[in-house]
Amino acid sequence: MRVLGIESSCDETGIAVYDDEQGLLAHRIYSQIKLHADYGGVVPELASRDHVRKAIPLIREVMAEADCTPEQIDGVAYTAGPGLIGALLVGATLGNSLAFAWDCAAVPVHHMEGHLLAPMLEQDIPDFPFVALLVSGGHTMLVKVEGIGEYQLLGESIDDAAGEAFDKTAKLLGLDYPGGAALAQMAQNGTPGRFKLPRPMTDRPGLDFSFSGLKTHAANTIRDNGDDPQTHADIAYAFQDAVIDTLIIKCRRALKQTGLNRLVIAGGVSANIELRRQLEVELSKRNGKVYYPRPELCTDNGAMIAYAGMQRLKAGQVAKEGVEVFPRWPLEQLPPV
Ligand code: KG4
Ligand code: ZN
Repeated sequence: MRVLGIESSCDETGIAVYDDEQGLLAHRIYSQIKLHADYGGVVPELASRDHVRKAIPLIREVMAEADCTPEQIDGVAYTAGPGLIGALLVGATLGNSLAFAWDCAAVPVHHMEGHLLAPMLEQDIPDFPFVALLVSGGHTMLVKVEGIGEYQLLGESIDDAAGEAFDKTAKLLGLDYPGGAALAQMAQNGTPGRFKLPRPMTDRPGLDFSFSGLKTHAANTIRDNGDDPQTHADIAYAFQDAVIDTLIIKCRRALKQTGLNRLVIAGGVSANIELRRQLEVELSKRNGKVYYPRPELCTDNGAMIAYAGMQRLKAGQVAKEGVEVFPRWPLEQLPPV
C-alpha cells in the first residue's frame, strides 16, 4: 500500500510518498523561514498563501522522484490539526481533492502523532510500550504510548513550549527566527559554569513543564552582563543546559513512574545534538534506549504524516465527507487503531 503525505500545519510544506513494504520512497520539505524572517515569527496569512503556491509543484516533484503514478496511491494523508487554521485548510482541501480525483481515501492525521511515530521511519524502531518526549515549537509533552492511538498524557508545558523558549531566547541573543538551532550552535562556544539558570518546576513532584521564566532570566543576564559575543555564547550555553537538564529530570521521572526504559524523542527540539547525547547517557545507565528520527524528520515533514496516515488508513479511519480541520486537538482524543 502507498500513501501520499501532506504537511501544512505551520511554516513548512512537507510532501512524501510512503510504501508499507518499501518504506519512504521520496520526501521533500519547503521551508517558509525566509518569508517570515522579517516579522520575527510566522504570519499565518502569509503561511497559508505560500502553502497554496508550493504544495502542487512539490507533489509533482515527490511523485516523480518516487516513480509513482496516481493509480498506485491508496490514500492521501494530510495534517488535520493542531496548527494554524488557514494553513491546515490548504493541506486538508488539497488532500481531499486529490483523494476525490484519484478515487482513493483521504486520511486526516494528528500532527503530534506524526512527530511521535517519526522514529518508525528509521531502521531501529522501538517496541511498544514506550515513553515519548515531544518537543517542538508549539508543544512540550511527555506521553506514555501503549500502541498507535493509545496515548496517555503524563505532562505538558503550562506556558511556552521548549522550542518557543529556544526561539525567544535566540531572538534576545540577536539570532533570526526560528533561532533554536542557531542558539545550539552558539552554545558550543559557551563557557560551562559562568552562568547558571534555574531548572523550572523540578523542585516539586509532577511531570509538567514551564519554560517562560527562563527567557526572562536570560534577558536579565544579558542586561546585567553586556552583550559581547563571548557573553552571548555563555548565556546560550547556560540556557540550553537549563532546558536540557529540565527535560532530562522529567524524562527520568516519567520512566520511573511508568517502569519503562524505552524513550522516543521527536519534534524540532529533538534535533538538538546535546539533548540526544545526554539522553543517550541517561538511558544507557538504565539499560534502556533512546530512539529518534534523522534530523530532517525531527522538524515538520510530510514523511511522518504519510507514515501515520498509513496506520490510520489500514485501520479504516478515513475522512468523513466534507473538509474538517482542528486547530486545537488533544492527542488523547485519538482512537486506537
Ligand atoms: O516540530 P517543529 O519543526 O515545528 C513545530 O511543530 O513546532 O519544531 C520547530 C522548533 C523551533 O522552535 C526550532 O527552533 C526548534 O524546533 N529547533 C531546535 C533545534 N532545531 C530546531 N531547538 C533546539 N536545538 C535545535 N538543534
Ligand atoms: Zn511540528
